[in-house]
Amino acid sequence: MARTRLAILYGGRSAEHQVSVVSARSVMEALDPDRFEVVPIAITREGAWLLPDRSPLELTASGGALPEVEAAGREVAVRPERGLAEAGAGPVDVVFPILHGPFGEDGTVQGLFELADLPYVGSGVLASALAMDKAMAKVVLAAAGLPQAPYLVVPERHWRTDPGRVAAEVADRLAYPVFTKPARLGSSIGITKVKTPDVLAAGLEAAFAHDPKALVEQGVTARELECGVLGNDAPEASVVGEVVPGHEFYDFEAKYLDESLKLEIPAPVPDAVRSQVRELSLRAFQALDCEGFARVDFFYEEATGRVLVNEVNTIPGFTPKSMFPLLWAASGLAYPDLVARLVDLAVERHAARRR
Ligand SMILES: Nc1ncnc2c1ncn2[C@@H]1O[C@H](COP(=O)(O)OP(=O)(O)O)[C@@H](O)[C@H]1O
Ligand SMILES: [Mg+2]
Repeated sequence: MARTRLAILYGGRSAEHQVSVVSARSVMEALDPDRFEVVPIAITREGAWLLPDRSPLELTASGGALPEVEAAGREVAVRPERGLAEAGAGPVDVVFPILHGPFGEDGTVQGLFELADLPYVGSGVLASALAMDKAMAKVVLAAAGLPQAPYLVVPERHWRTDPGRVAAEVADRLAYPVFTKPARLGSSIGITKVKTPDVLAAGLEAAFAHDPKALVEQGVTARELECGVLGNDAPEASVVGEVVPGHEFYDFEAKYLDESLKLEIPAPVPDAVRSQVRELSLRAFQALDCEGFARVDFFYEEATGRVLVNEVNTIPGFTPKSMFPLLWAASGLAYPDLVARLVDLAVERHAARRR
């Protein structure tokens, strides 16, 4: 059987650049070389696409920091009529964009692959864009009847022209602590737990540093449960896991740098909670029109028994510490088989669209 030429895109212009490099490296290490020929494509922070001189496997991080794409390599480009064929990379069968955050997880790069008629792993343009935008995702999830924490959307313009009114609305509709978040980012970047009204401004400024649209969300006292979803038309849910951050909340440090983070798989919560999470995961996946894979994150309020959807990640982390691959491993699908399944789903979706 001919090997599948799989382009792996990593790095990119988002603040989650380094996380993407670590994810890509793990995927490359796990792929079966008899089945896949990997074509690594590095995207620099400036947005240049390169066939890198050094593979991501050779990149080392200095001083505890995460690795970065190097701006050294041959430039490569997607051409609408030829995919990556004319780019010096040779023909590619499938693309796996392992890019978290804006310009990767948000539908932009997916649109490019649609134009180029290239099969790619994961959700399409609409689902990617919806899930990336926490404000829009909430509207769609609410329409599907999914439970979520109360929130307000704050455009930067409103805050600049009338901060008093925004503060009053927060006080009126929500109770402190609240969380301020950029609408379109991830990895907890720009997120603040705002405990008192006097630091709402600082929280919003931190969010606006990344996005002119912010959310202020009701803080909940809850455990954090996560569930993996895999499939196209008939998606399946994995076992449910719990993240136990050793920090005040699940911030960037806790996610990637802190060894005290604990992932509990399966989550030590009642069976009924786990089955509710799995069912809500599938509903959220379908409400947003996701394809391929996603990780759906929840808050489980033990005091009330309530389960709330927090967010849907259409390109979940694939680092060695990442929940998504661990959930599937616990569900009987080992890492290399998981990646192979994602590639199959990409090909299947591409064929179905063509019909
Ligand atoms: N409403 C909330 N109540 C309690 N904790 C929250 C709330 N919103 C976010 N958090 C904390 O912040 C983390 C990151 O928030 P999240 O919305 O998942 O953003 P990201 O897309 O960056 O992962 C969560 O995993 C959780 O620890
Ligand atoms: Mg999150």
